[in-house]
Amino acid sequence: MSYHQAEYDEPLLNQFRSGSTYRVDTLEHTSDLGIPQKIQRNDLNIPDIAEYDVVRHFTRLSQMNFGVDVGFYPLGSCTMKFNPKFADQIASFSEFRDSHPLAPEEFVQGNLRIVYELQEYLKELSDMDFVSVQPLAGAHGEFSGILVARKYFQDTNQPERTEVVIPDSAHGTNPASAAMGGFNVVEIPSDGDGKVNLKALEAALSKKTAVFMITNPNTLGIFDDQIEKIAEMVHSVGAVLYYDGANFNAILGRTSPGRMGFDIVHFNLHKTFATPHGGGGPGAGPIAVKSRFREYLPVPIVGLKDGKFFLDYSAKKSVGRVSGTIGSFGVLLRAWSYIRYHGADGLKENSSFAVLNTNYLKKKVENRFDVPFYKLKKHEFVLSTANTGRRATDVAKYVLDHGMHPPTVYFPMLVHESMMIEPTESVSRQDLDRYADVLISAVDESPERLKERPLNTPVTRIDEVKAARDLKVRW
Ligand SMILES: Cc1ncc(COP(=O)(O)O)c(C=O)c1O
Repeated sequence: MSYHQAEYDEPLLNQFRSGSTYRVDTLEHTSDLGIPQKIQRNDLNIPDIAEYDVVRHFTRLSQMNFGVDVGFYPLGSCTMKFNPKFADQIASFSEFRDSHPLAPEEFVQGNLRIVYELQEYLKELSDMDFVSVQPLAGAHGEFSGILVARKYFQDTNQPERTEVVIPDSAHGTNPASAAMGGFNVVEIPSDGDGKVNLKALEAALSKKTAVFMITNPNTLGIFDDQIEKIAEMVHSVGAVLYYDGANFNAILGRTSPGRMGFDIVHFNLHKTFATPHGGGGPGAGPIAVKSRFREYLPVPIVGLKDGKFFLDYSAKKSVGRVSGTIGSFGVLLRAWSYIRYHGADGLKENSSFAVLNTNYLKKKVENRFDVPFYKLKKHEFVLSTANTGRRATDVAKYVLDHGMHPPTVYFPMLVHESMMIEPTESVSRQDLDRYADVLISAVDESPERLKERPLNTPVTRIDEVKAARDLKVRW
């Protein structure tokens, strides 16, 4: 398939003049109305854009963009699953779409029921005790979970717990959330297998440790089978074990954070339940806790009493609200729809396909690229382009020229010239084969030519240093 992305010389919307019948740029005959000359206006400075021009403008812009509806998007760690259209359709039912976020409880019993059921499903899937769906993104969930831990240690009079320990394979939002929550971050190295280095963990844990934060499987796609030991170590110093649920899709229905011994968890609904990725909001990043943290959860939570759903503000020591309403209802509704549609078996099967696709793609490219650490991966794998004499960034730009999205590059940082690939379950075998061919053919291209890529996109190679140092944010 040859590929050339659409390119338009598109003006800004406010430069449009449709000149349609709706146009009001000159008010003539005002003198006929008997308005004195001095106070008459001759023109009105209001937009003059017809609906068809607005629609075409945004459609053209979207054609110069790349998204999950355009092609394969295996962006490791960001998990760009296809967003199924049935969930969008359900979310657009007028009964949902037109309900006001602050409507009285008795008017929106159906909406509250959906949120209540979603809370229950998330509890069941994670083996945790209580859920709050308030946070608006994965990172926001992390931050809210950190606030819960902070409140817990304040409440139990342990001010000496000032540190959050994090492995070097962690996503950047983990240390960011810990720091924003007022903790000092202590980073520990991974071991030679890409798992938690238990010696380093032991050395880092102390009475000062508030939280140990990990994702499992980690960002290398490796399931850390030492997790029970880790839980024991963390709990033995009185600290909290936090699960970054970003990679939950890899283990859905096979194990759970609750079984692994975690105390606080966030879910990235887009990564596991195929909702749109909010990018900091309006996404959704619910959190779940074991019962001893229930009182600290963000409120409201949806409760059920005497057959009525209600907004429950009873958590006495709550960290408070972390979003304006119950949460991102449209996204929660899509996650609920996804769970209901697939059911227990379907969810488990999706997870298996996500893992299978990863290992299939890994197998197809591992003869050409270095794939460090373990053989069997979970939902994603990391390769290094270093052995090919090509830079990861150049290979990524080459992929763009073939109508697919490149992998995440230069993360995790413990792999040199890394590319992190997460196919998810929503990809065909043909696309997996094609992706492998494209990655391999990138290496077959001369390094000089590779540096000129991309050539088939509206924006070609930019001077990234200049873009960062000499940033122009005005049109
Ligand atoms: C491991 C991990 N943790 C946390 C996050 C942050 O999640 P979100 O993008 O939903 O804010 C991500 C990114 O998607 C991630 O990959």
